[in-house]
Amino acid sequence: MILGPAVGPVEADDVADHYPWPERGPAEDRRPWVRAMMVSTLDGAAAGADGLSLSVSGTADRAVFTAVRRFADVVLVGGGTLAAEEYGPMRANPDDAARRAAQGQAPASRLAVVSGSLRLPLGEDGFLASDLPPLVYTTEQSPADARAALADRCELVVLPGERVDVAAVLADLAARGLWRVVCEGGPTLLRQVTAAGLLDEADLTFSPVLAGTSTTPTTEVLSDPARFALRHVLTEDGFLMGRYVREDLA
Ligand SMILES: NC(=O)c1ccc[n+]([C@@H]2O[C@H](COP(=O)([O-])OP(=O)(O)OC[C@H]3O[C@@H](n4cnc5c(N)ncnc54)[C@H](OP(=O)(O)O)[C@@H]3O)[C@@H](O)[C@H]2O)c1
Repeated sequence: MILGPAVGPVEADDVADHYPWPERGPAEDRRPWVRAMMVSTLDGAAAGADGLSLSVSGTADRAVFTAVRRFADVVLVGGGTLAAEEYGPMRANPDDAARRAAQGQAPASRLAVVSGSLRLPLGEDGFLASDLPPLVYTTEQSPADARAALADRCELVVLPGERVDVAAVLADLAARGLWRVVCEGGPTLLRQVTAAGLLDEADLTFSPVLAGTSTTPTTEVLSDPARFALRHVLTEDGFLMGRYVREDLA
């Protein structure tokens, strides 16, 4: 057995190069490329006892988390994650400006949130201090007063139906040219992305702790599980960072 494919030592500045996006020209299909960025403990928990993923994360995981976002067009999260985790502002990094411009990208990634209740932390930096206004996807069933409260802080997209259809969200993002999508969870949103067969890549960190799983939402068994191919494993301080790409795309 081998552990691989082997990468060798990776400098912090080069981590993003190990998480490439597919090459696509301006006239080509802009189908979204959706990667999940998640950390899991040895017992499958997505958060520690405080309900936060940070408490089961580590330095290397955070470096990968940051690198995976660097050349994304959009960071997609569920309302539960936005409420639970403190999302900082999404700002342009001067070091990335030339590469992003050459790739036809906006200088900064854009936050996109899926929420039915619209109970969102509107006072936090992710909303107030990001370079681009967040996109919030909701339905006609959401409370009108919550929609009104959001009006000047984000771009609200109201979709038909009782729940937001994640396929419609990804189609809307792609139509805006935002096809490099990092889905940072949480588990409820990711479950819908995977159930719709829309996950292309899973960037998973295995955290070397046992945390208990009472706060982890359960998942449904998929009748047709997709196979993913291992592209690399990075390791530091007992953390394993794996990159898996859907087998038919690898
Ligand atoms: N380990 C990791 O890498 C990681 C990553 C992210 C989160 N987490 C942890 O996971 C926990 C949160 O898990 P979660 O599964 O609840 O998070 P989530 O998927 O971000 O949030 C679920 C909530 O988002 C909204 N939502 C999701 N899909 C929707 C849809 N199709 N239509 C309408 N609304 C929708 C709903 O709330 P509203 O209608 O109220 O908005 C739903 O209750 C937290 O403890 C967080 O720290 C861990």
